[in-house]
Amino acid sequence: MTVRILLLNGPNLNLLGRRDPAIYGSATLDEVEEQCRAHAARLGHTLEARQSNHEGGLIDILHRSRGEVEGVVFNPGAYSHTSYALHDALEAIEIPTVEVHISDVRSRETWRRISVTEPACVYQIFGRGTVGYQNAISHLHYRKNHPPLTLSYGPHPDQVADLRTPWGAGPHPIAVLIHGGGWTAPYTRDLMDGMAVELSKHGMATWNIEYRRIPPVGDWRNTLADPSLSLEALKALPPEHRVDLNRTTVIGHSAGAQLGFFAAKSASPRPVRLVSVAGMLDLERLGSGFDYLLQGFLCEEREARQAEVDPVQSLPLGSPIVAIHGRKDDSVPIDQSRRLVEAARRAGDQADLVETDSDHMDIISPLSPAWEQIMQACL
Ligand code: DQA
Repeated sequence: MTVRILLLNGPNLNLLGRRDPAIYGSATLDEVEEQCRAHAARLGHTLEARQSNHEGGLIDILHRSRGEVEGVVFNPGAYSHTSYALHDALEAIEIPTVEVHISDVRSRETWRRISVTEPACVYQIFGRGTVGYQNAISHLHYRKNHPPLTLSYGPHPDQVADLRTPWGAGPHPIAVLIHGGGWTAPYTRDLMDGMAVELSKHGMATWNIEYRRIPPVGDWRNTLADPSLSLEALKALPPEHRVDLNRTTVIGHSAGAQLGFFAAKSASPRPVRLVSVAGMLDLERLGSGFDYLLQGFLCEEREARQAEVDPVQSLPLGSPIVAIHGRKDDSVPIDQSRRLVEAARRAGDQADLVETDSDHMDIISPLSPAWEQIMQACL
C-alpha cells in the first residue's frame, strides 16, 4: 500500500548545511529532502517536502494536508518548545505525526528539553542527525503496516513496550526485542520496528521494549533492570493476547544484546533462545572508543562490576545462543560475536554464529539484502 507522507520543516531549517554544522550536520535541506524521498520510495511511499519559517504558514500547510497525506514527519524547530498553536493544529488534523529533532535537544539548553508539540505526535526522534528523518519515515511505515499496542511495564515513561500479535488463534511464541544505541537517550525502540513487524508476519508475537537509558535518564542499574522487568510484566498480559511464554526468544541488537543476555539469564521461564544481533558482548574488549558509552557500566568499581555487566564474563547463559553479525560492521567489531560464541561453547552453552554481509544498522532492516538469513536465525 502506497502512503503519502508530508515532510515538514519549521523555522531556520532552510539554512541546514550552513547553520552550525557541528550541531546540525553538513547536509542541506534539499539534500535531506532528496534522501527522504528516496527512503520513502524504497518503502513504497511518496513524499512531499515543505518548509516554512512562519508559525501560521506551518499551520496552514498542516491544515491543507488533511485528507491528502497519511503521515507527517515534522521538525517544528524552535516552535516545538513554545507553540501551543502547532500542538493544536497537529491534534486537529488527526494525521499520525512523528516529531524529529536533528540535534540531541535533551542534552542542550534546558529550554530545548521541553516539547509542547510532542504530546500531539505518535513518536519523537531526536539526536540522531538527519538520518532521524528517515527513521521517522520507517516508523510511520511499520506503524501503518501493523499498529502496535503500547503498554507500560513500570511507572517511568520509558518503561513501555509495543506488543504486536500475529494473525491466527495462537498461542503464539513471543520475541522480546531490545534495541541498541549504546544505552544513550536518542536511540529508542523504533529501531526494532521492522524486525517486530516481520517476525509477526512469521507467526511470532513481539514485545518491543523501551528502557531507561544511562544519562541523562537514569543510571546503569535501571538500564540493566528494565528488560527483566519487561519480561516479568508479560506474565500479567491478559489471556486474550494468547502469548506462550514457554516459547520466549530474547533478541537484542548492539548494546541491547548485552541487556538481553542478562534478562535471559535471570528469566523464568527460561527463554528458548537468545539472539544477539551485532551484539556488544565483550565490553572490556570494545576498545577505548567506547569508553564514553561504558562510563555508566564499567567506570566505578570496574573489577567488581565486570561479572555483573559483561556477557562474556558471565557465561554460561543456560539458554541456546545465536549470534548474528555483519562482516561490514564498523561500529561493533564482529570479533565480539566470535569470541562470545567460542567462550559460550567452552562454558557448555549451545552457541551458533551467523555471519552476514550486513553493516551495523542494515542488519536490523528488512530492506537489507541479507534479511532472509537474518529472519531465519531469529525464528
Ligand atoms: C531542532 C532543535 C531546536 O531546538 C532548534 O530550535 C532547531 C532545530 C533540531 O532539529 O535539532 O531549530 O529542531
